[in-house]
Amino acid sequence: MKFFIDTADLDDIREAASWGILSGVTTNPSLYAKTGGKLADFEDHMVEICHICEGLPVSAESTAETTEGMIAEAEHLASLAPNIVVKLPVTEQSLPAIHHLAQEGIRVNMTLVFSATQALLGARAGARYISPFVGRFDDIGDEGLDHLAEMVTAVHNFRYGYWDEEGGPEIITASVRTPHHVTQAALLGADIATVPFGALKKCVHHPLTDRGLELFAADWAKVTGEAK
Ligand code: E4P
Repeated sequence: MKFFIDTADLDDIREAASWGILSGVTTNPSLYAKTGGKLADFEDHMVEICHICEGLPVSAESTAETTEGMIAEAEHLASLAPNIVVKLPVTEQSLPAIHHLAQEGIRVNMTLVFSATQALLGARAGARYISPFVGRFDDIGDEGLDHLAEMVTAVHNFRYGYWDEEGGPEIITASVRTPHHVTQAALLGADIATVPFGALKKCVHHPLTDRGLELFAADWAKVTGEAK
């Protein structure tokens, strides 16, 4: 499974990129708002992310609501950098836009996906990526990972004719909150998990690793004569 980072924070993206584990970046309007960025700086900000993560897919979300508006905005966003992926929500308006954009070779990450039928329709229309939101199910007392399992199986059962040579459409496990989400996404066969930097850092740590480090340090102090 590949790791994307789910943030628009440039420092976090730089640091995660330095770990050598990043395969892409996802952003959304809320994540950009969190950086304090303004509309006038939005495109430069996305281009900067694309430079930091050269060659890796960087999702920038369209806020248009009509099919025509989504196509125009997607074409514009895609022209900003070769590695831009356009995020569109799953709606009746977006499906024709996704279909049109796929034929132009523009990659769409279909977002706000909460059912297998939505995922299947997006794949058929030509979405390059499909993003089920696991954590938001959990937020309402549902089991996000059960829904993810359905979507992974349903989507991976078929070939769609678009993005075959790139191994698409790929499932991006989104709305990830915990290392458990990450592990289960991998075990369920999701292609990608997009993880906020805080949750990614939690994935590095384990209490037994910390305990082991303390023990080694204490024993090494005996060797060096620094033990108290
Ligand atoms: C990423 O593509 C999604 O926009 C993001 O993971 C949503 O996460 P949230 O549910 O924590 O806002």
